[in-house]
Amino acid sequence: MILVTGGAGFIGANFTLDWLHASDEPIINLDKLTYAGNLENLASLANDPRHIFVRGDICDRALIDSLLATHQPRAIVHFAAESHVDRSIHGPGEFLRSNVEGTFTLLEASRAYLSGLDEKARAGFRFHHVSTDEVYGSLSPEAAPFAEGHPYAPNSPYSASKAASDHLARAWHKTYGLPVTTSHCSNNYGPFHFPEKLIPLVIVNALAGKPLPIYGDGLQVRDWLYVGDHCAAICRILEDGRPGETYNIGGWNEMSNLEIVRQVCALLDELRPRADGQPYRSQMVHVADRPGHDRRYAIDARKMERELGWRPKETFASGIRRTVHWYLEHEDWVKNVQSGAYQEWVTKQYGAES
Ligand code: NAD
Ligand code: DAU
Repeated sequence: MILVTGGAGFIGANFTLDWLHASDEPIINLDKLTYAGNLENLASLANDPRHIFVRGDICDRALIDSLLATHQPRAIVHFAAESHVDRSIHGPGEFLRSNVEGTFTLLEASRAYLSGLDEKARAGFRFHHVSTDEVYGSLSPEAAPFAEGHPYAPNSPYSASKAASDHLARAWHKTYGLPVTTSHCSNNYGPFHFPEKLIPLVIVNALAGKPLPIYGDGLQVRDWLYVGDHCAAICRILEDGRPGETYNIGGWNEMSNLEIVRQVCALLDELRPRADGQPYRSQMVHVADRPGHDRRYAIDARKMERELGWRPKETFASGIRRTVHWYLEHEDWVKNVQSGAYQEWVTKQYGAES
């Protein structure tokens, strides 16, 4: 079996569902269930004996030691993290705790666990660390996309905490021989995406008749990838990735935030037109920019293709259509995640009128 951390969050839940759809190998899913973790994402696995959910913190060494000893996983896929840049600007402390101390705790527990395994089990073990393209910082418009050797230049508390965790993962491989692989992925979108991030926020606000906030001029560029393609890439790395290597994962799909919001609005105009006949894009408003806002990210994913034969299957047109359909069909999910804690965040970030 494998141990997944953060498997009740957006990408972790998609990974867990896809994994158990494709294979019978069980998953132990360790998640603290912060505001971003949601067991409703895993409701379809409620009676599935292949899925063992454990509520707990990746900083809890005793818990991790006991999970490793009891279940003897052949791999760890480490998603758990605080993941929202704007939240890291308001309160970086939790990002350092979960992202840095949590990764350190998992690496140390893995090292101790491996020392008790026989040679064959040790050779087959993998620790996959899920990182982000944000550790590389911001690209100028004409610069080549981020390849694996790109220098680190994180600009937000979130990306700095992810960069720190990457360095720990690297060092645990170099110094202790822990069989670590690391991936740097671009912006994901798809089902179960928490509506504090741009795409689900726009879908949910548009349908509720609320403003669609565009930070600054909206010309910041991201490289968008459908979440299922990210999960498939991680599976390939687990199968054939080489310990000590890093892999960049992206969608070959650079788009500005304005383009993204306009496309989502156009899809909603088609699939759920406004009662007054007005286009959803009329709800777009420019608001204050994010401090330290990175202007452009882009991923060179050629190593994933060359070494592991992976390429994204979804185009942005097909992936965003699936995503908008999913949100239209899951209004209860949206209602349930918009709890008191979510409302507090919206007020803090966008003001009382939002
Ligand atoms: P998310 O915020 O939706 O989910 C994070 C999950 O981790 C939640 O279920 C939360 O409860 C859990 N968690 C947080 N702190 C924990 C702790 N201390 N102990 C145990 N569980 C804890 O995040 P996501 O968007 O699914 O991102 C998952 C991973 O992928 C993160 O490491 C993130 O940095 C990385 N990543 C995300 C994207 C993206 O576009 N969302 C892109 C590249 C990389
Ligand atoms: O690049 C990978 C990263 O992508 C991941 O590591 C992060 O975990 C994930 O949250 C995401 O970070 P971003 O900051 O790029 O995503 P977000 O959805 O928050 O914002 C996308 C862009 O849209 C960014 O340029 C900021 C902008 N934005 C965002 C929000 C929430 C707006 O203009 N308005 C908004 O209200």
